[in-house]
Amino acid sequence: MRPRRFLPAGPLKGRIRVPGDKSISHRSIMLGALAVGETRVTGLLEGEDVLATAAAMRAMGATVERNGEGAWSVHGVGVGALLQPQSPLDMGNSGTSTRLLMGLIASHPITAAFTGDASLSKRPMGRVIDPLSQMGASFEASEGGRLPLILKGASPAVPITYRLPVASAQVKSAVLLAGLNTPGITTVIEPVPTRDHSERMLRGFGAELDVEIEPDGTRVISIRGEAELRPQVIDVPGDPSSAAFFLVAALITPGSEVVIENVGLNPTRAGLVDVLRQMGGHIEELNPREVGGEPVADLLVKHSTLKGIEVDPAIAPSMIDEFPALFVAAALAEGETVTSGLDELRVKESDRLAVMAAALTASGARIDERADGLVITGSGGDPLPGTEGPIATHLDHRIAMSMAVAGLASRDGVEVDDTRPIATSFPVFEAMLDGLSA
Ligand code: S3P
Repeated sequence: MRPRRFLPAGPLKGRIRVPGDKSISHRSIMLGALAVGETRVTGLLEGEDVLATAAAMRAMGATVERNGEGAWSVHGVGVGALLQPQSPLDMGNSGTSTRLLMGLIASHPITAAFTGDASLSKRPMGRVIDPLSQMGASFEASEGGRLPLILKGASPAVPITYRLPVASAQVKSAVLLAGLNTPGITTVIEPVPTRDHSERMLRGFGAELDVEIEPDGTRVISIRGEAELRPQVIDVPGDPSSAAFFLVAALITPGSEVVIENVGLNPTRAGLVDVLRQMGGHIEELNPREVGGEPVADLLVKHSTLKGIEVDPAIAPSMIDEFPALFVAAALAEGETVTSGLDELRVKESDRLAVMAAALTASGARIDERADGLVITGSGGDPLPGTEGPIATHLDHRIAMSMAVAGLASRDGVEVDDTRPIATSFPVFEAMLDGLSA
């Protein structure tokens, strides 16, 4: 455990550049490992989660090398040619690595064991086990469909048409990645759109992938299997989920003015920016452009008086990882913020509804926890009292970073029990925060 008390700080001023997008970083290594030839990646997130993916792809035959800060090269083995790993794949804290790799392996003649930390070992894997079993893979999972588990891939796998029962980009991606090495057409029906990095990148690597949008917005995504992937040059945009902490920090700390450079603004990820603007947050998009096939801009953020709102549950998938940060913003706003439709937050790295409710309550905020959301009565901009003892982060990086931000806007500071998990997604977070408030 590495505890730290995050103290109130003066205005945040300056320019920062957040690290590469975690979702895109995972996918660039996985697809690079399946293309024949050299894929070059810049701006790769060097967090523990992505390093777990890199280690797993090496264990299955790819050459994955670091050439400099964020600069990596991947020599792939070709679709269908992944090798049997010689030892269990340790996924650490990473749900994305686990679920996407289960998809990749499901259509290879490979048996692999997956292990993870205490947080990952509590998370449901049934949601990928179900469709991948339909494709012919078999599983020996721990109780409740959890890690550790053993997966035996099918060769050949059977193409399926699968309607997603939960709005999950990880489940969608697992089925599409399994479809890459499955004869025929594999189809995923997605009633509620989720992040589309897999679709964009699969196309970029040359897979035949079709997306039809039905009148009610349902997306029908089909991929032709036994694809041949061509190596790519990928520049990974900054992670909007990491930018989120600094957006909120600047909005709630009086006198702040910060530019966050190179933030990915894919519409399937940009929900928090919309919601913070609805609350009265001053966020300007400067220099909009495209990086790595994704829309990107620099964000200028100024301290603002925020007002509580009712957050439309339909926007949840486009900011699913940003609710802990939003809850902190709401705790400092004027009036009530109501969130609902957030059952999925209970199965993230921690139960983010229960854990954020407890952490914010301990910091002096007024929180009402409901089954599928939090109702937060804001302080109207007054600093939160802060915590006496440490708040429990339950191995969840986003809880630790959100409560660090809450500390800035507190009277006595907020003590976080363990800052180590921050390294899973944002190893330089504390240095960046300290630099801005210095
Ligand atoms: C991710 C999808 C989301 C998100 C996670 C990354 C991805 O998970 O919470 O941090 O890269 O596909 P779900 O698919 O469980 O919603």
